Amino acid sequence: MKMNGLVALITGGSRGLGKAIAVAYAQEGAHVIVTSRADSPTGLPGTAEQTAQAISQLGGSAVGIACDVTNEVQVNNAVSHVVEQYGKLDVLVNNAGIMIPCEPFLEIDPQRWDELMLVNTRGPYLTCRAVIPIMIQQRSGSIINIGSNAGVEHRWGGTAYCSSKAALHMFNMCLAEELKEYNIAVNVLSPGGLKSEGSNAIPWAHTNWDQRVEPEDCGPSAVALALHRADTMTGKVLDRATYKQTWS
Ligand SMILES: NC(=O)c1ccc[n+]([C@@H]2O[C@H](COP(=O)([O-])OP(=O)(O)OC[C@H]3O[C@@H](n4cnc5c(N)ncnc54)[C@H](OP(=O)(O)O)[C@@H]3O)[C@@H](O)[C@H]2O)c1
Repeated sequence: MKMNGLVALITGGSRGLGKAIAVAYAQEGAHVIVTSRADSPTGLPGTAEQTAQAISQLGGSAVGIACDVTNEVQVNNAVSHVVEQYGKLDVLVNNAGIMIPCEPFLEIDPQRWDELMLVNTRGPYLTCRAVIPIMIQQRSGSIINIGSNAGVEHRWGGTAYCSSKAALHMFNMCLAEELKEYNIAVNVLSPGGLKSEGSNAIPWAHTNWDQRVEPEDCGPSAVALALHRADTMTGKVLDRATYKQTWS
């Protein structure tokens, strides 16, 4: 198994892509820690605990922790819990995200704008801030930021979402530079359009539903990225479909 004994923290694992990556990691032998909010305001099914239970039932090793990525105390507590339990942290996947992909600028109210920016940019900042000291001590680790084509291509209705993902991509690149000397890889995985629960709830996503892939299709690329360290690959934006041609 490719991730035997590795410890991986995945944010936003109650459903969708985060859940799919958690399952893929566990199937490769990783100890998986899945997080999501205690009370999701989305009304969509799934919790981190339920994902962990499903993985355990399949024979994998998983723990679910309620943690809002925008809350510094909750993030620090979750990471402390991981280190207390496993003594290390090899892989961080910053997956938790909010999508407002196609809404006219004037229809996005300030509260929603702020919430999106908090989850999509402050979230990865806080988790990295908590995890990086551990990885520096280990002189090893892989951080995967879930980006998007929206982070590189401007589009109508994308002022909030595209801006947040572009910020995440640039955050990734700058962080990769800083962490090279500790052999910590920092890469963006851009999954392409997904048939996730979150997408399903967005009417616009149904305009190209047939072109979207199941979140599970991203498992192999997320596994391959988890195995990189800075000396093999860092500071890249990897489009899942293109990356699939090599997995290296
Ligand atoms: N879907 C696509 O087509 C697509 C394409 C490109 C990139 N992406 C990116 O891929 C990632 C996952 O997307 P998805 O389609 O799987 O989305 P999803 O089905 O809506 O799931 C989003 C996940 O993020 C969690 N989350 C949201 N806010 C959170 C917070 N404050 N704290 C902790 N967890 C939080 C949700 O958990 P709770 O609500 O249970 O807390 C849920 O587990 C996102 O970063 C998204 O931008 C998606």
